[in-house]
Amino acid sequence: MVAEVERAVSPYLSGNYAPIREETQAEDLRVIGELPVEMDGMYVRTGPNPQFDPMGQYHWFDGDGMLHGVRVRDGKASYRNRYVVTKGYLEEKAAGENLFYGIMEMEKNFATGRGYKNQGNTALVWHDGQLLTLMEGAEPHSVGLPGLTTNGTYDFCGKLISSFTAHPKVDEKTGEMMFFGYNPMAAPYVQYSLVSKDGELQFTRPIDVPRGVMMHDFSITQNYTIFMDLPLTFSVERAMKGGPVLAFERDLPARYGILPRHGGNEDIKWFEMAAHYMFHTSNAFEDGDDIVLHGCRLASTNVLQPAEMPKNRNGDVDGGDPDESQGLMHRWRFNMKTGTYKEEQLDDVGTDFPRVDDKLVGYGSRYSYNARFNKVPYGEQPSFEGINKYDLKTGRMEAHLFGKERFGGEPVFVARNGGTDEDDGWLVTFVYDEIEGTSEMIVVDAKNITAAPLARVMIPQRVPYGFHGAWVTNDRLESQTQHQMAWQPPV
Ligand SMILES: [Fe+2]
Repeated sequence: MVAEVERAVSPYLSGNYAPIREETQAEDLRVIGELPVEMDGMYVRTGPNPQFDPMGQYHWFDGDGMLHGVRVRDGKASYRNRYVVTKGYLEEKAAGENLFYGIMEMEKNFATGRGYKNQGNTALVWHDGQLLTLMEGAEPHSVGLPGLTTNGTYDFCGKLISSFTAHPKVDEKTGEMMFFGYNPMAAPYVQYSLVSKDGELQFTRPIDVPRGVMMHDFSITQNYTIFMDLPLTFSVERAMKGGPVLAFERDLPARYGILPRHGGNEDIKWFEMAAHYMFHTSNAFEDGDDIVLHGCRLASTNVLQPAEMPKNRNGDVDGGDPDESQGLMHRWRFNMKTGTYKEEQLDDVGTDFPRVDDKLVGYGSRYSYNARFNKVPYGEQPSFEGINKYDLKTGRMEAHLFGKERFGGEPVFVARNGGTDEDDGWLVTFVYDEIEGTSEMIVVDAKNITAAPLARVMIPQRVPYGFHGAWVTNDRLESQTQHQMAWQPPV
């Protein structure tokens, strides 16, 4: 008799983290307030949404990708949601059940021979005429708009030889896209690639780091690329001894490696400092001999610890300190001449998911818009109660709060066409009302962030909390181009 598969119990399967299973479409949504008539494009957000009840230990990072899209035009909005149709999604659909283990038991997938599922559930990037939905362990999936159809996996005409970060950086002035891929288990642990504005993958070069680490993001300036070798480490050996496959190692250093954009490992300058973690950078720029980086620094992280792991500083396994597990906005100045650095904490309010005007990535931005953490009891899942707008020139911070028992996510900046000021535009994000049980897309005036939303677009179904989004302008929607897919889902 086959043993009953143990089904996951996880806070990421309940409340508004719970998946929805309907794929739907709705026109002419109810809007409270008014959508700016100049807003013309589509907000797309990806996130985890397991098709079947997961087995084993479930983490938020594990669910099948689901895309939620709101098309805005002429003051009206429509909505649709679709799964990212991946190989793993189709395998499980055919089997009628969950077949893959999640990140906290990823070593079990090697035993089953399935590998890790590429869910396309983490973030989105627009480049070379197509929207890609990403997860950091495998290749991108290309998405057709506005239908949110999965075109297939995209491997740059066979040239992709690494995994693909969820956070590539596009220099909108040159059109180049920089990305990296990391391998948690074997050297080269990190590989760095550059794609030309025409979509040609120009090079892939190994970057030396001494062990497998979870490298979630990086950053660019006009001439440099910045890697983060931070001590959230992978170890199958540790997992074999009953520890977590992924753990924060407080005794290892945090290292930032800066190399010329078109350079290689031999050109890197490393800056070493005390252990910490950072999921997301905000932006970077060059200032004389300095490279200036802003981002949400965590003193430690427990985010990937199974609920039952010890969470203290005493054992072999450091689960991170509960008081240290939220990002805090920081600035670093790395001096490329002297090899010294300065680190400065800019706020003591926890934030993450920082976004800036996409046009300014690599060139510095005065404003950073960050999701603002709600203070949650330790061990509970994170939630975001608002948006913090940082003026990095004056040091001023202003907040937009979603309201009582209302939580949201990453704010995406939408520039107003023809706007001259950096903050001339809007912020969009999905907000869930825990009391009403309803979801909406809010539109906030980025210049006047403390005011009530200009528009609340009511979504006809619940939108689970998710990860990153993108605003695709109407020009881009109309300029989508066909690419050669490495794999296409059957029609
Ligand atoms: Fe991310």
